[in-house]
Amino acid sequence: MAEVYAGAVDKGLEGVIACTTAISSIVDATLCYRGYLIEDLAANSSYEEVVFLLWNDRLPSKQELDNFKKTLSKDISLKPETVNMLKLLPTKDVHPMAWLRTAVSSLALWDEDAQDDSEEARFRVASRLTAKMGTLVALFERFRQGKDYVEPNPEKSFAWNFNYMLTGKEPDQDIVDVFDTCMILHADHELNCSAFASRVTASSLSDVYSSVTSGIGALKGPLHGGANEQVMRMLIEVGSVEKAKEWVKDALASKKKIMGFGHRVYKNGDPRAKILRSMSEKLCNKAGTQYYEMSKIIDETVQKEKGLLPNVDFYSASVYYSMGIPLDLYTPIFATSRVSGWLAHIFEQ
Ligand code: COA
Repeated sequence: MAEVYAGAVDKGLEGVIACTTAISSIVDATLCYRGYLIEDLAANSSYEEVVFLLWNDRLPSKQELDNFKKTLSKDISLKPETVNMLKLLPTKDVHPMAWLRTAVSSLALWDEDAQDDSEEARFRVASRLTAKMGTLVALFERFRQGKDYVEPNPEKSFAWNFNYMLTGKEPDQDIVDVFDTCMILHADHELNCSAFASRVTASSLSDVYSSVTSGIGALKGPLHGGANEQVMRMLIEVGSVEKAKEWVKDALASKKKIMGFGHRVYKNGDPRAKILRSMSEKLCNKAGTQYYEMSKIIDETVQKEKGLLPNVDFYSASVYYSMGIPLDLYTPIFATSRVSGWLAHIFEQ
């Protein structure tokens, strides 16, 4: 029998070079997309502009951005026959990521470009997938509640439409702005598990839909996309600001992992967490919930007791909760943004 050398296997493939990427880079506590700092993009860009940047390796001119937004707006709606077919999929006791994986895969069957591997066709498919991902997540929630598809407004942004299609009501501008920034912050993150899965599928010269479906399958795992949902469950379990400090101390004493803390790569802090923290403060105060105050105490206690800093998932939980988004949609929303990064990786591969 051949010998197996355990030492040759690195935890989480740490330090193993699988390929190189120019899409995003993490250096110490900084994250850049195509050389632009995430703080600058979050403050000055829209999600649509960031998608253009990820796919084209440069920022668009005003005209290019207008045209790109028009293309995405055109692609955001679903055809009646697609909505009717998706209505047949079960939603009761179904994991929203499993529904999304099936829905995305099924879109390929209606797309005449699905098997065309020319660059033009791949960009058309990429635009459709990026535009429709949020529509599908909103549709799942509508169907689950026994409600109907809400036709998007082509004049409005991606972030506006997602919230509109989810609730059927015109969204508050603060929510739209925060959601747009959340989309920017989650769009790409170097060679993570789901980006790698998308690239592996693309490397066999498979089609874009198959590659994106692989990414969704990888993101579904609780070790990758599911942590912000777990953070919110933890905040609900903690229950009050007064109990937060003791809860953390007890959890650490019993060697429990506190969700939303620590990171395999960022050891000096996740830059996205800082941006999300201020958005959590704004939205929690506006919604009149105590989850920001509670999060702040948990953050201070974990730092003091364990020296660990919050990651992207910690403050995004209270942000999404304040927006009224159901807990099990947090990972599908992550996919709604990250699809743009997967597509950039598929193109690069
Ligand atoms: N809560 C409590 N302790 C934690 C912790 C957390 N969230 N994250 C790491 N630690 C502890 C480990 O138990 C270990 O303690 P020890 O030295 O006493 O054994 C130490 O910190 C180092 O942890 P390690 O497992 O080496 O960190 P890592 O870099 O391999 O793991 C994560 C990184 C993200 C997997 C880990 O921090 C984690 O599981 N975090 C919670 C889940 C989460 O938020 N995931 C989303 C990531 S974006």
